[in-house]
Amino acid sequence: MATNNAPASTFKYDEKPVYTTSNGCPVENPSKWQRVGTQGPLLLQDFHLIDLLAHFDRERIPERVVHAKGAGAYGEFEVTDDISDICSIDMLTGVGKKTPCVARFSTVGGEKGSPDSARDPRGFAVKFYTEEGNWDWVYNNTPVFFLRDPTNFPLFIHTQKRNPQTNLKDATMFWDYLSTHPESVHQVLHLFSDRGTPYSYRFMNGYSGHTHKFVKPDGSFVYIQIHLKTDQGSKTLTNEEAGKLASENPDFSTQDLFEAIQRGDNPSWTVYAQVLTPEQAEKFKWNIFDLTKVWPQGEVPLRRFGKMTLNRNVENYFAEIEQVAFSPSHLVPGVEPSADPVLQSRLFSYPDTHRHRLGVNYQQIPVNAPLKAFNPYQRDGAMSVNGNYGANPNYPSSYRPMTYKPISPTNPHEKWAGEAVNALFDDMQPHDYEQANGLWKVLGRTPSQQENYISNVAGHLCNAHVDTRRRTYEMFSHVNSELGAAIAFATEKNVPKL
Ligand code: NDP
Ligand code: HEM
Repeated sequence: MATNNAPASTFKYDEKPVYTTSNGCPVENPSKWQRVGTQGPLLLQDFHLIDLLAHFDRERIPERVVHAKGAGAYGEFEVTDDISDICSIDMLTGVGKKTPCVARFSTVGGEKGSPDSARDPRGFAVKFYTEEGNWDWVYNNTPVFFLRDPTNFPLFIHTQKRNPQTNLKDATMFWDYLSTHPESVHQVLHLFSDRGTPYSYRFMNGYSGHTHKFVKPDGSFVYIQIHLKTDQGSKTLTNEEAGKLASENPDFSTQDLFEAIQRGDNPSWTVYAQVLTPEQAEKFKWNIFDLTKVWPQGEVPLRRFGKMTLNRNVENYFAEIEQVAFSPSHLVPGVEPSADPVLQSRLFSYPDTHRHRLGVNYQQIPVNAPLKAFNPYQRDGAMSVNGNYGANPNYPSSYRPMTYKPISPTNPHEKWAGEAVNALFDDMQPHDYEQANGLWKVLGRTPSQQENYISNVAGHLCNAHVDTRRRTYEMFSHVNSELGAAIAFATEKNVPKL
């Protein structure tokens, strides 16, 4: 049976455990090894040495294909406000109800050893251990994303990573993709603002980005987007500060999170929902399944419902953070995915990558194991470590009946019908630039934010090929002609002389 997320207890300094091989055989001295005479070859029978080396040889597992660098901690979620009118999710029912959780924050494009202060979106992932299963929020610190067409995700990510020939980060690839996919520009506004380099993980917000549905047992539902706002206040680095930190303390955000919790300065986030009824959604100006758009807060106000606090560091980074496996498809009764095609694709991609990265039984790893799980039809496979459901039948046996809980009735509103088509969501309409322009104006509310934006873009774009630069100026000009002109001017001044 699955265990819960309790970490191993801290070791006691006055204890002296007996050192053994992996099969428990006591070893006299870990530095002794067997050979023929004092100078001769080693003996294959020296199990201690071979055991040690062979295990070391296999220490690495694949790093996450994206979001490889990260840090995390345990905490709890508390319901602060009643939202029973729109929601029947067990975890959110009852003001004061608390649910344990584990969170992991990350950068996206860099490798496992890359600097925390890189200009990049930040991952904001939380696993809640609810009474009705694990519910994962696999969010970012930006409310929108670069794409709305899921086939673009691997292609886009390739351009933000390394050139296949030089193995270098490549400004031309980077901007070539973005400028030929202008639906990315709203997210590019976020990325090159100072929020693209948060001070550390404690000082940034989290956003679902995607629309989900809160579904009630009577079949009614609302569309929602979730926001987690940092109670520490949003704090950012300038480009220069981020660059300096990358060389002086590349693990700054990791250290900052660990040390804050260690000294009891527990970070917290206030959690809100934006809510639209199906009728409102149908009349809404913005396509609620388009991940490049927000729901303007003036029109769809934030409704507070909870608070998440991180209050406990892990005992073992690899066991509890490297092996934690989040997925947008880890849902609980009362919440459903929307038809957003990017979200739909993510439902598949995460468990798929977990089976590759951690193995088919990844849900049995203690940090991933739900409080309660019982599925004896899933048996065997590599690393089955939960007793494999013992003698329970491995099919729906009439001799061992199970309880099957009723699910919500199918909702009458969302009935999809149509012919199979090859969908393409990418053609840009003039209104697709409006929200990016809105953010450009939001930046203008805080002194120096627009100036920083232009210089942040110019310092990067100047390294791209001239055709790519020109196409990028054009993209920014569609957002705002002054922005396009200012970026062109600042970038061309920065172009390295050959
Ligand atoms: P609002 O004025 O109601 O919201 C603007 C929001 O922008 C703020 O609430 C804040 O989000 C965020 N913000 C403030 N300063 C910055 C900054 N320097 N860099 C990045 N974000 C900042 O207007 P709208 O709702 O119409 O949104 C206008 C634009 O603001 C959008 O196009 C979007 O890019 C951005 N935004 C909108 C959000 C939304 O859900 N509507 C959420 C976040 C950003 P917060 O309070 O969460 O810190
Ligand atoms: C991590 C795929 C879009 C947030 C990952 C991982 C994959 C992936 C394969 C690695 C997971 C692991 O190894 O554990 C995709 C695909 C996307 C997509 C295919 C689009 C089609 C998004 C979006 C968001 C997001 C839009 C946020 C709104 C995250 C986060 C992580 C992650 C937070 C890190 C989770 C952790 O800390 O372990 N993604 N992703 N992704 N993704 Fe996505």
